Amino acid sequence: MSIKGWIIYNGNLPGTKFLDYAEMVQQAATARNVETTIYKNNELLSLLTENQLSLIPFDEQELPDYAVFADKDIYLARQLELLGIRVFNSANAIEISDDKIATYQYLAAEKLPIPKTIISPKIFFSRTIDSDLLDSVMKEFGLPLIMKEAYGSFGEQVYLLQSKEEIMEKMQDIQEKPYLFQEFVPSSYGKDLRLQVVGNKVVAAMVRTNSDDFRANVTAGGSMETYTPSKAETDLAIAAVKAINADFGGVDLLLGPDNTRLICEVNSNAHIRNLLDCTGINAAEYIMDYILEILS
Ligand SMILES: Nc1ncnc2c1ncn2[C@@H]1O[C@H](COP(=O)(O)OP(=O)(O)O)[C@@H](O)[C@H]1O
Ligand SMILES: [Mg+2]
Repeated sequence: MSIKGWIIYNGNLPGTKFLDYAEMVQQAATARNVETTIYKNNELLSLLTENQLSLIPFDEQELPDYAVFADKDIYLARQLELLGIRVFNSANAIEISDDKIATYQYLAAEKLPIPKTIISPKIFFSRTIDSDLLDSVMKEFGLPLIMKEAYGSFGEQVYLLQSKEEIMEKMQDIQEKPYLFQEFVPSSYGKDLRLQVVGNKVVAAMVRTNSDDFRANVTAGGSMETYTPSKAETDLAIAAVKAINADFGGVDLLLGPDNTRLICEVNSNAHIRNLLDCTGINAAEYIMDYILEILS
């Protein structure tokens, strides 16, 4: 097959996690006789002039047919799209996924089950706490409640707050960064489900548990076990990925009351190494099959 692909990851992040993701995708491509090249996002410079968009140092004919985008450099993803390259996931999907507020808006617009959420109104400059806002939020959700920054990962920007004082302190800390308030789902304390969706399939799933923290993230000390999702969980995860217009993604489901499930998050760039270690399933294989099918 002569279609040409690039795999792009972030050149500035410490650690090897993202290169590892890129290499997993490359291996899956090679196994299918498809040639790919791995680039760091900072090796590709988006040039804009009054009569063209381009990518330094490439000529137009050197550009690929598609790119697997293992990064959140949305401007670069969009530059590639404006140059006619199919990007997996799309710039738009990555942008929505990266922003938890936007994600919940798209999920709610599709009437999908999510924890009740209030978006904190935009603040331009730090100022004293809006006490009316705080009263309305507490009236809606009671205590404890969850606050989440729009941008965050590994559970690090997700907070469980027990009192009005704790909430005020957190609002002071977060200042003008975008965030949301959310009902706490106690039945999901330290436990959630991660389902990896590719196209119209759930290809692997895990249950994550943490006995020391309300957050089930593995980075927060959680452990993983392979899991067989029900039809309802499978359908929900696929619908969540579609709601943000992604091709593939890792969906976190919270365990609601009476065995219900609530969508917690859709990760367009979910780590597939953990999933492979836990379940023995390599999502990269499914991702490459999906891409080749879409492009054929
Ligand atoms: N509303 C909630 N109620 C109970 N637990 C929650 C809630 N929201 C998040 N969590 C827990 O916190 C973890 C991290 O939240 P998440 O929104 O997925 O952020 P991150 O992007 O940092 O993983 C989830 O995996 C879940 O265990
Ligand atoms: Mg998460």
